[in-house]
Amino acid sequence: MTANIHVIANSNYNSILIQSSHIYRQTRIWAFLPRIRSDFSPTMATYSAWFVVRRGLPSKALELKTGLSIPTKLADGHVLVKVHAVALNPVGYKLMRTLPDFLDGRPHIAELDMAGVVVDPNGSEFGVGDKVFGGTPDVKRGTLAEYVVFPSSALALTPPNVSAVEAAGLAVVNLTAYQTLMTLKIDSGQTIFINGGSSSVGMAAIQIAKFMGCKVVATASGRNKDLLLNLGVDEFIDYTAEPLSERLLKQPPTPKFHAIYDAAGLTDPALYLNSTAYLAPDGMYITAGTMPKTGKEFVEMLRQIFEGMFRPTWLGGVPREFGVSMVQFEKKSLEIVRDLVAQGALKPKVDSVHTFDRDGVMQAYEKLMTKHAVGKVVIKVVNENE
Ligand SMILES: NC(=O)c1ccc[n+]([C@@H]2O[C@H](COP(=O)([O-])OP(=O)(O)OC[C@H]3O[C@@H](n4cnc5c(N)ncnc54)[C@H](OP(=O)(O)O)[C@@H]3O)[C@@H](O)[C@H]2O)c1
Repeated sequence: MTANIHVIANSNYNSILIQSSHIYRQTRIWAFLPRIRSDFSPTMATYSAWFVVRRGLPSKALELKTGLSIPTKLADGHVLVKVHAVALNPVGYKLMRTLPDFLDGRPHIAELDMAGVVVDPNGSEFGVGDKVFGGTPDVKRGTLAEYVVFPSSALALTPPNVSAVEAAGLAVVNLTAYQTLMTLKIDSGQTIFINGGSSSVGMAAIQIAKFMGCKVVATASGRNKDLLLNLGVDEFIDYTAEPLSERLLKQPPTPKFHAIYDAAGLTDPALYLNSTAYLAPDGMYITAGTMPKTGKEFVEMLRQIFEGMFRPTWLGGVPREFGVSMVQFEKKSLEIVRDLVAQGALKPKVDSVHTFDRDGVMQAYEKLMTKHAVGKVVIKVVNENE
């Protein structure tokens, strides 16, 4: 038997929806609360946005453009949002420094995540003044801006128990984690191994898996041990103590893990290549992406993974399914995430908050690029009540 590659797309995400549907009914009340008056005047209004204009590190790739006209005519199904806060995601700087201009469609506004307030609902289900969060499904129409035009299908009402700074990072990491767990088909009572438990994706996956009644074994460096135990992790492994696959080969779990979620992004192919010893035969291994240091390292990592996947077992192939997750910005998942946050099952974590000016934005990217942020790195665009 050889392994199959599996890219997550259009999965059926019903199971948590059933558990959280009662919260959805309660939260719809928000739509009828008195709306805050919008100070938005489309006449002569302009805004600023950070554009990715060339390949390179953020300090070279990003430029602030001012005096941009705020759109007054919106396409059907689109909403104009005044942005309060934007959360950064690693994919932003990864694409910035690797993709050539023609592949990345530059210039375009940077980033994917945001929270803000609806100023032109354009006939959608939202009203003026609704607080919303979401992730853009179109990387060429980013969010690091004072105003964004968003498909209403990629937005949900902000849970009442979180601030805009906390809501800014809800979409990408929580949707990624939730959709991946649904694809891994884990069930209450089963054990999932989460590598990179202190990444924002990892923390989301831990909390959702615990909500589903799973046992969670998760990794981080020792300094994040208490954080993970407080999230409900049943067993903690310090990935810096020894190579993970060696640790798991020496002490394989009984029974074997039902699923492995690499929420750090593939750092060591050995974790997959040796997984027969610690992943159940029908279990899947999904990674959130890659975390290579150089292009050469990336190619070598892919070579090893593909050999493991496609070689027959007798030639050293790995008889376990391997997949790479790809977040889907769709309404149902956004509403499930919103409901989980509203009931306290999923707690957003913010690493740091930065300003929208050049110093603030560059400091934010510097922090994210350390790969050791604990929670979302957020840029506050404007105060929530302005
Ligand atoms: N496929 C998708 O749709 C999708 C969506 C979102 C994110 N992603 C990917 O998912 C990964 C995580 O994203 P994120 O936003 O959650 O990142 P993040 O919050 O910036 O992750 C930082 C955390 O990663 C941990 N970490 C760093 N190196 C590690 C390693 N070798 N092993 C285990 N943990 C390690 C650090 O913990 P310590 O300080 O304890 O080391 C730190 O707390 C990234 O590769 C990102 O590109 C993919």
